[in-house]
Amino acid sequence: MTKPSGVNKTFDTSLVDIQRSFSSTETNTSGSSTKENVRPPPEGDPDLSSLRHGSPFTQVSTQELYEQWASTYDTDGNILQFVDSARMRALFPGFWIATGKQFVGERLRLLDLGCGTGRTTVKLASAAWDLTVVTEVYGWDASQAMLDVAKGKCEAALEQRRRYRGPMWPNPSLELVQMDLLRYESISERYTAFFDGIMSTLVLEHFPLPAFFTLVSRLLKSGAYALVTNMHPDMGRLSKAGFKDAITGERVKGMSFIHGIPETIAAAEDANLELIGNVRESELDKRTFEISEASIDEKARVAERATKWVGVKVWFGLMLRKR
Ligand SMILES: C[S@@+](CC[C@H](N)C(=O)[O-])C[C@H]1O[C@@H](n2cnc3c(N)ncnc32)[C@H](O)[C@@H]1O
Repeated sequence: MTKPSGVNKTFDTSLVDIQRSFSSTETNTSGSSTKENVRPPPEGDPDLSSLRHGSPFTQVSTQELYEQWASTYDTDGNILQFVDSARMRALFPGFWIATGKQFVGERLRLLDLGCGTGRTTVKLASAAWDLTVVTEVYGWDASQAMLDVAKGKCEAALEQRRRYRGPMWPNPSLELVQMDLLRYESISERYTAFFDGIMSTLVLEHFPLPAFFTLVSRLLKSGAYALVTNMHPDMGRLSKAGFKDAITGERVKGMSFIHGIPETIAAAEDANLELIGNVRESELDKRTFEISEASIDEKARVAERATKWVGVKVWFGLMLRKR
């Protein structure tokens, strides 16, 4: 397991600067600087991703990015998480209804794929699933530092649930595991056709489309549902996941892909996952602030960073069913 690093970093601009001209001075992985006018990269091409942002940054592996970001990930006014949480209020009930259809005594197995600090895992663990089924919640992620935050957050949520619901309504079991989900073969055969529902929020950006959807399809039972959200390609052409170290001012980013929506649907189809309903897209607009359940402080932090994103679609979400 990887130990957390850089946990004393306290501030971050995460989805960092955009320069619409794409004319920039960039720092490459080896630390040297290049100055050039750069066109936006083709969709799905990760190799040019370090060239499309306005400010110098250090490129690290995706796992290292989240090891360093974990301590501030939940509190830095991240725009995409904010939109995701707000829009999930409309998406989650459909997932909940579609997924919770077990018979008395059966098991309901739910996975948060790329669970990070547990923002979505908490939703799965706290939802009012059928009392008569045995609910198991799993969170998988490559970053131990993110999982450590998730553990504390989920345990607190389950404790609160226990207090409100009482002993007659048992809590789901919770299993948080560190694994690299790109290492397909290393995921135990036990999990093939194992899950009744999968949620994966803001993770797809870090995966090639076929790898992601082949995995989701393999893990789901036939007829089961997946709820997937991601950075919108309009935002992806201007930014990608990363944060700014408050002490050194260093911007740090991992590896990201820009995924177009038609390509995403096609890749899901190829993996035997059928689109249910429409793909939802969202900007960071007034409505998002209205429907958000975030605290006033969090809204203020997001608002501070919001102006440069006005008029840009930042998020999309879709529901899929395994054929
Ligand atoms: C933007 S965060 C999203 C976290 C959480 N789902 C949320 O919505 O707040 C992306 C997460 O994907 C995880 N991730 C990226 N690549 C991964 C991989 N190959 N295997 C497992 N997890 C991965 C990262 O560690 C990180 O926690």
